[in-house]
Amino acid sequence: MDKIVFKVNGEECKVACHVSPDETLLDYVRERLGLRGTKYMCREAGCGACIVSAKRSSQQPYAVNSCMIPILACHGLEITTIEGVGNKKKGYHKLQTTLAENNGTQCGYCSPGWVMSMYSLLQTKPDRTMLDIEQSLSSNVCRCTGYRPILQAFKKFAKDAPKTDDIIDIEDLSKCNISRTSCKENCSDDEDGWCVVHECDVDRGIALKLKDGRYWYRVGRIEDVFEVLKDKGDDSYMLVAGNTAKGAYPIEEYPRILIQINNILELKGYVMDQNLIIGAGSTLNEFRDICMKVSENEYFRYLRKFYDHLGKVAHVPVRNVGTIAGNLMLKHQHNWFASDIYLLLETVGAQVTIVRYKNVKQTVTMQQFLNQNMKGVIILNIMLPPLNDEYKLVTFKIMPRRLNAHAIINAGFLFQLSKFNIVRDARVVFGGLSPSFTRAYKTERYLLGKDLFTNETLQGTLKVLDDELVVEERLPELGVEYRRQTALALFYKALLILCPDFKIHPRYRSGAINLHDTRPVSQARQIYHTDPSMYPVNQPIPKIDALYQCAGEAFYSEDVPALPGECFAAFCLTTIGSGEIASIDTKKALSLHGVIAFYTAKDIPGINSFTPKGGIFPEKEEILCNGTVKFFSQPFGIIVAKTKHIAERAAKLVKVEYKNVRKPVIDIKEAMKDPNRVTVNSSITATDKGNDVYKVIKNVHTMFGQFHFTMEGIVCVVEEGLKVYMGTHFVDGAHIAISKALKIDQSRIDIYVRRVGGSYGLKITRGNQSAVACGLVALKLNRPCRFIQSLTDTTRSIGKRLTCTNDFEVGVNKNGVIQYMNYDMYHNFGCSVNENLLSGLVTDAFFNCYDKSRWNYNGYNVVTNLPKNTWFRAPGNLEGVSNAELIMEQISYELSLDPVEVRLNNLDREQYGDIENMYKRLKKDTDYNKRRMIVNKYNKANRWKKRGLRFSFSKWNSSPLGNFNVLLCVYQGDGTVVISHGAIEIGQGTNTKAAQVCAYSLKIPIEKIQVKGCDTTKGPNSDQAAASLASQNVAVGVQKCCKVLLERLESFRKEMVDATWEEIVKAAYLDGVDLQVECHVSVKDSEPYPYTVFAEVEIDVLTGESEILRVDILEDVGTSVSPEIDIGQIEGAFIMGVGYWTSERLTYADTGELLTNRTWNLHVPLCTDIPQDFRVYFKENSYSYAAIMGAKAVGEPPLCLAICVPLAIREAISEARSECGIPRNQWFPIDGPSSVDVIALSTATKKEQFKFH
Ligand SMILES: Cc1cc2nc3c(=O)[nH]c(=O)nc-3n(C[C@H](O)[C@H](O)[C@H](O)COP(=O)(O)OP(=O)(O)OC[C@H]3O[C@@H](n4cnc5c(N)ncnc54)[C@H](O)[C@@H]3O)c2cc1C
Ligand code: FES
Ligand code: FES
Repeated sequence: MDKIVFKVNGEECKVACHVSPDETLLDYVRERLGLRGTKYMCREAGCGACIVSAKRSSQQPYAVNSCMIPILACHGLEITTIEGVGNKKKGYHKLQTTLAENNGTQCGYCSPGWVMSMYSLLQTKPDRTMLDIEQSLSSNVCRCTGYRPILQAFKKFAKDAPKTDDIIDIEDLSKCNISRTSCKENCSDDEDGWCVVHECDVDRGIALKLKDGRYWYRVGRIEDVFEVLKDKGDDSYMLVAGNTAKGAYPIEEYPRILIQINNILELKGYVMDQNLIIGAGSTLNEFRDICMKVSENEYFRYLRKFYDHLGKVAHVPVRNVGTIAGNLMLKHQHNWFASDIYLLLETVGAQVTIVRYKNVKQTVTMQQFLNQNMKGVIILNIMLPPLNDEYKLVTFKIMPRRLNAHAIINAGFLFQLSKFNIVRDARVVFGGLSPSFTRAYKTERYLLGKDLFTNETLQGTLKVLDDELVVEERLPELGVEYRRQTALALFYKALLILCPDFKIHPRYRSGAINLHDTRPVSQARQIYHTDPSMYPVNQPIPKIDALYQCAGEAFYSEDVPALPGECFAAFCLTTIGSGEIASIDTKKALSLHGVIAFYTAKDIPGINSFTPKGGIFPEKEEILCNGTVKFFSQPFGIIVAKTKHIAERAAKLVKVEYKNVRKPVIDIKEAMKDPNRVTVNSSITATDKGNDVYKVIKNVHTMFGQFHFTMEGIVCVVEEGLKVYMGTHFVDGAHIAISKALKIDQSRIDIYVRRVGGSYGLKITRGNQSAVACGLVALKLNRPCRFIQSLTDTTRSIGKRLTCTNDFEVGVNKNGVIQYMNYDMYHNFGCSVNENLLSGLVTDAFFNCYDKSRWNYNGYNVVTNLPKNTWFRAPGNLEGVSNAELIMEQISYELSLDPVEVRLNNLDREQYGDIENMYKRLKKDTDYNKRRMIVNKYNKANRWKKRGLRFSFSKWNSSPLGNFNVLLCVYQGDGTVVISHGAIEIGQGTNTKAAQVCAYSLKIPIEKIQVKGCDTTKGPNSDQAAASLASQNVAVGVQKCCKVLLERLESFRKEMVDATWEEIVKAAYLDGVDLQVECHVSVKDSEPYPYTVFAEVEIDVLTGESEILRVDILEDVGTSVSPEIDIGQIEGAFIMGVGYWTSERLTYADTGELLTNRTWNLHVPLCTDIPQDFRVYFKENSYSYAAIMGAKAVGEPPLCLAICVPLAIREAISEARSECGIPRNQWFPIDGPSSVDVIALSTATKKEQFKFH
């Protein structure tokens, strides 16, 4: 056969040799079928945006990451994309409407992926519990919502969901939306095994010679694989099973021969002789199901542990297609890989059967397998031994977040014990320590004949193990010290788990509990009052675009259909952090088939800058490096090609010679010492000084960077002409940048932005660089160009949240009242001090809500060899507020005072006195006194689990920003209304609030109002939509427009007393009234708002894992225009802060290269990382200005509140330290997120403390 035939949403599709192996199902549905509802971000199975549902005729549908599946591997598949689930024409699916109604979408870019994940889950197993659902959704990232509303929506589909009025028929939902039949087949239920692929799936195979010279085969028998290799050679080939390994270790270029093997029956299913033999081509979820099923057999009970561990491997869609063999080969090819499959198999002494040409089979141990030459060899099956009750198995996987991350370290322990717990045999296995060390043989030998559960055996073994462990450094993995300590701690933990209870002192039993396993299904409450007399203003309603977003019908910039003749561009990035470019060699890149052009700074007709000087840009930042390299991964050229893949590949082939290469300075502490890199930004002198100095505290706190991690990346499409589609919320800035760089009048450039798929500050100015580059290509080649910056390129080449170092000296009295403060703050701007306002914002926040009269403040801008750092949600404020909170906390530690007391003693009561009342309310609502008692008791009773409780305070001063046009038109035909404005909808709900205000002002139903996108014709000169003020600006503009319109209609309304809105509009139109109104608006909102928050956390002292048990936020939002949207902003911002403070670590090499540049190693929170109990309250009876209908800014402030999480963790740590004799009042440094390593190492735990009693 020479065609790949499959169905997408019921329509037959065919591809043949014209596609390349790089082309994925994602590319195909978006680009060839124009089904742009499926989104993408990472292209490495790490974000979930691209999930679709797939099904073979005889199987149940399952979720897959369409970015992983080569289109050539789709033969026989029936694919359902978001368009096939529900849409405008055929009606929306209950999942789509429920997600929309529950406000589970903000920017909406992630929403189709969520719907598809849940849709597939329900198709496979409709009777899931709420906990099942939560734990199965770790495949998807949402950077906006904080997950609570998504979980709330989807948990309604659980069998144990509380009954509500909108009862959902789960049976009905499991029907396939294309065929409308229930999928009952479950091949893996077949009693006899070897059965997962039905005969009907097996065809006679496919052989394609692709246009790029590669070969694609789809075979049905093992011998066919060997035939192909014999015929075509085995010098360059790959067996394609699930093709997910490239998500972990990217494939730069596919080999010459690709053989799809996931249809080979011999590699599937299982049989049992004495051993359990499982086909190595079984997917990880099939493996998991087999484990569950076979664990009923008394000799395979241990497989229940496998089942649990496999639930922590990758996530559902990867496990749906990724195979056992693929995973083992990953370990074989990349010895560093902490494979969980290898770990499990090696722990129980499993073996692997491999097969060579002519059916020569060999059974090898796992260790032998790693040393095999696997060229031309297929993994046939794995053989798991029977183990009787004498064998005790424990396995662990430590991750930077609860689910969906590869192991930092994993461990497996198998002990064969006599009746009296004497060790007859032992296997001690680790992953993640070094490429070669996996078995602790010496330790195993040491244990033989010993009573496993005595303090002596434990301590003796720990010494041997410590000596034996080989732990190597490998950035960006966590440090050697943590991994070594945790390896020892896991051994101890395993023994605690196995040890009979009566032998363990009750205080140590807490070590036997895996913290994350105790996590219940999450719960949440949102507590606020509304005033129905104001409706639809102040009415809790879903976002007006929510349903379109959940259906994949919402348009984002890169959803522009493929344009005739379009080409693709990619940046070439420098590979040094400081030095000069000597020469550029493009020969190899330009000779790659499909490459069209290469441009450097010399090709730019205007100024080589995407930040034309003026306003917030004191400096010109280069579009393309003109010789002097300022940071690692600085763009120096643009490659243009026929496809995105070719452009990206070619970009890497451009070779650069460098000269005068210097070591880049990236660490702010180093840069601070160089006066040439430091300039004063602002100084504020104290107006008062106290004399009652009881203690002087000096310290340096360093805050760290954060990557925005927007789900829609940096993208731009430019039609020759120039019409620009891009993600920006500073349209004027982009407009000027493109015009100046390309030397074209602004009037000849149209920018259109319908909505932005998440920004958090990134797309205010940083998208301009690729937009200008894209425009340059379109101009030079006179053809449309698409610029889609890959996630890795974006993380490396674009700046992030500013890191800052705060050097302070504070003198306090006995009550912690500040007598004087010298406070120097250094901001790491990266390579340029543009957007200087950033550190300016700190001048309003450095003292938080405390009396600043005794604070001397100096702010410094520091230049380093990093990409220019930029705006990030609550810029400056997060840094200022958090530093102030850290200082208050340190004072309370050093003086052994209650931290709240210290805060209240320093509060600026005149300005922020309200905080005290809010704190009192929260204290009551959270039942603080009782919980404090419980936590104290808990900490006393448990050695290896500790809890912490913290309040923290915060205030927000809005920075007046914004100059926007609002245009309101009424159509005389039907009285419907259209609004367009220059403040972009980035997920913050501006459009919904605009519609609510308009409906309220005109007294018409909200359904009559549409809010359209922004373009440079309707919204020229539009300022940045930033500082949480866009919604307020637009609301004011809408009110103004409505006022003008109502004045124009006034006489008609008076005359036509009983007339409808439509009749009045029509009459006015016929009388020549202009029904289009335009207003210019700029709101200066500078009232300070207070907030308070309370958090309770628990840590595992042995591993450093943490859980947020409960968070209560009390926020002053004024009179909320749209309460559900404001709740969403609060929850989303808070969880973004949780990521900042717990798991989002940025790691750089000495060269200045960012190593945490992918979803594989950059860990934003997922839905199982949010507080187990999450409550948000609005302050009652609050009001701001009449002009903004009493509302207050809401999008950014809650991010600052997340500081309470590391502070609560700190209390838990200090409780653990006190067990080691360190006084509770001793402050200890934590610079960076309170990640597992930081927590574990800060507890000062020593292996000598590990005991049973
Ligand atoms: C987002 C993500 C998260 C992940 N998390 C984890 C994790 O937590 N723990 C963990 O252990 N792993 C994890 N993985 C790795 C995952 O388990 C593997 O990607 C998967 O098992 C590979 O299987 P595959 O069928 O997709 O292999 P493929 O990608 O199809 O193939 C990989 C390699 O195996 C070879 N191969 C495949 N089948 C055979 C065979 N039968 N005989 C010989 N060679 C063969 C191929 O030639 C190729 O070289 C993760 C992966 C991703 C993408
Ligand atoms: S784009 Fe496929 S998972 Fe991110
Ligand atoms: S709504 Fe989920 S990423 Fe924006």
